[in-house]
Amino acid sequence: MNECPIGIFDSGVGGTSIWKEINGLMSSEDTIYLADSKNAPYGEKSEEQILQLSIKNTELLLEKGCKLIVVACNTATTNAIAYLRKNYNVPFIGIEPAIKPAALQSQSKKVGVLATKGTLSSSLFHSTSENHATGIQILEQEGTGLVPLIEQGKVDSDETKQLLSKFLKPMLDEGIDYLVLGCTHYPYLIPVLREMLPENIKIIDSGEAVARQTKSVLEQNGLSNPSEENGKHQFYTNTDVEVLKYFLKDVKVAAEVSYLAF
Ligand code: DGL
Repeated sequence: MNECPIGIFDSGVGGTSIWKEINGLMSSEDTIYLADSKNAPYGEKSEEQILQLSIKNTELLLEKGCKLIVVACNTATTNAIAYLRKNYNVPFIGIEPAIKPAALQSQSKKVGVLATKGTLSSSLFHSTSENHATGIQILEQEGTGLVPLIEQGKVDSDETKQLLSKFLKPMLDEGIDYLVLGCTHYPYLIPVLREMLPENIKIIDSGEAVARQTKSVLEQNGLSNPSEENGKHQFYTNTDVEVLKYFLKDVKVAAEVSYLAF
């Protein structure tokens, strides 16, 4: 079992930001990544649709022999992870907006959260906000339209900048000092966001924490790969292979990127 791959899925290319954190921390682990770009954005779908897509991705990763699954998508985590954990016999690691660290560190006591409609409307997101942000004003902003632009590789296009400036304004007007990126596609917007945001505003995402949690759950379950060689990596997309390759252009280890109908 130790030599089996870690499975990772997202509604598209966004979860590659999480894959990079995982590979950075555990280079000997093999991985299989599913980019369900054909069905992006998940954030505009119903809870039931998000659940069914998450089940489809999970079952494919299990067929491929994965020992643990990382749901590298806030929208799928907040809508489906409880079901997945109850119904499948492997550990699942999820990702949620990093409200807790932002709330703990905020001086202005105002934290902005940019995430999909599906994440912001989920009950898991609401309970996390209530439990970890007492005394903090959370300014929620749906990032509708951003995922399709990122899926087209338009991370710094004028259209993307215009949408971002519309989304940031209400949060900036209120005086946030932390911006939480609650979608795994959004870390690809950090260079543009950095240009647009005042220096005192900190941007925070959950990628590193997810990688650390993955490592610790593998260790707790005796599932870590003891190999000292670099892992093997397979990436599958159900749309354009070139788009996925674009988001992996800075990856230095060998990775196979293929089309798969799923
Ligand atoms: N990467 C997904 C997330 O973290 C994007 C969701 C979508 O496809 O709308 O929420």
